[in-house]
Amino acid sequence: RGKRAFIAGIADDNGYGWAIAKSLAAAGAEILVGTWVPALNIFETSLRRGKFDESRVLPDGSLMEIAKVYPLDAVFDCPEDVPEDVKTNKRYAGSSKWTVTEVAESVKQDFGTIDILVHSLANGPEVIKPLSETSRKGYLAAISASSYSFISLLKHFLPIMNPGGATISLTYIASERIIPGYGGGMSSAKAALESDTKVLAFEAGRKHKIRVNTISAGPLGSRAAKAIGFIDMMINYSLENAPLQKELYAEEVGNTAAFLASPLASAITGATVYVDNGLNAMAVGV
Ligand code: NAI
Repeated sequence: RGKRAFIAGIADDNGYGWAIAKSLAAAGAEILVGTWVPALNIFETSLRRGKFDESRVLPDGSLMEIAKVYPLDAVFDCPEDVPEDVKTNKRYAGSSKWTVTEVAESVKQDFGTIDILVHSLANGPEVIKPLSETSRKGYLAAISASSYSFISLLKHFLPIMNPGGATISLTYIASERIIPGYGGGMSSAKAALESDTKVLAFEAGRKHKIRVNTISAGPLGSRAAKAIGFIDMMINYSLENAPLQKELYAEEVGNTAAFLASPLASAITGATVYVDNGLNAMAVGV
């Protein structure tokens, strides 16, 4: 039987989530997607109208199929958590069952089980503010959307994950070393995510035989990254200073995710794996 993957955090064909979906599909996995509710309409419309067809092409020439797209907002665990203004917001009112518990329940009803869970989402409303100028609300929002969202997804999907399965999230080196401009508590959120990767690897490994890893990816000009504002500078810095002076392709992160999710990585858990042309190993720019 082929493996089944649920990938949270795809809303276009530019980000790491899409590339991971493609690499998993190329390896034979069935693809389910969780898309942020406010982005759902345009993503589904674009899919339907063939806007992504060119980027759906897999190495064997076939097109990646997405078995189902689920609306998801990973900052809410259950309907009781959703405040009135979100409930009645017209971008949310058109969709239903998009809290984490409800999505896990729907996937269970539709497909029974999954083998691979991918968390490729982050949000920090104050990301352009330096950490020292970040509000409590902004900081907690970054942690909620970018770190706790992974705990919540794992918690609610674990009961429907087949033993031997794997989870993957995406992190950034700003967790460990100073990247001026990655503010709003996003550096803190990634530090939490990396630490949680270890603790959750223990808990999910012992209880469910599930592996938990995170990929520390180099800079990519995704939609989320463009919102931060310094992504072109980071890409150029990497091109100039990394051991491998080449563009970093989203596909390279996708392929690493496919490896980590496969039996080839059966002894790897609790790891932060760098996919960044080696930039993390440099101490100074040259
Ligand atoms: P992206 O824009 O393709 O992906 C982020 C996704 O998160 C979007 O689809 C957005 O709709 C979704 N999202 C935001 N809030 C959400 C919520 N509450 N519930 C559900 N979905 C929500 O951008 P990218 O850059 O591919 O991001 C994917 C992951 O990669 C993130 O964790 C990011 O921090 C990480 N990363 C990105 C790097 C880059 O340079 N682009 C570098 C290192 C890590």
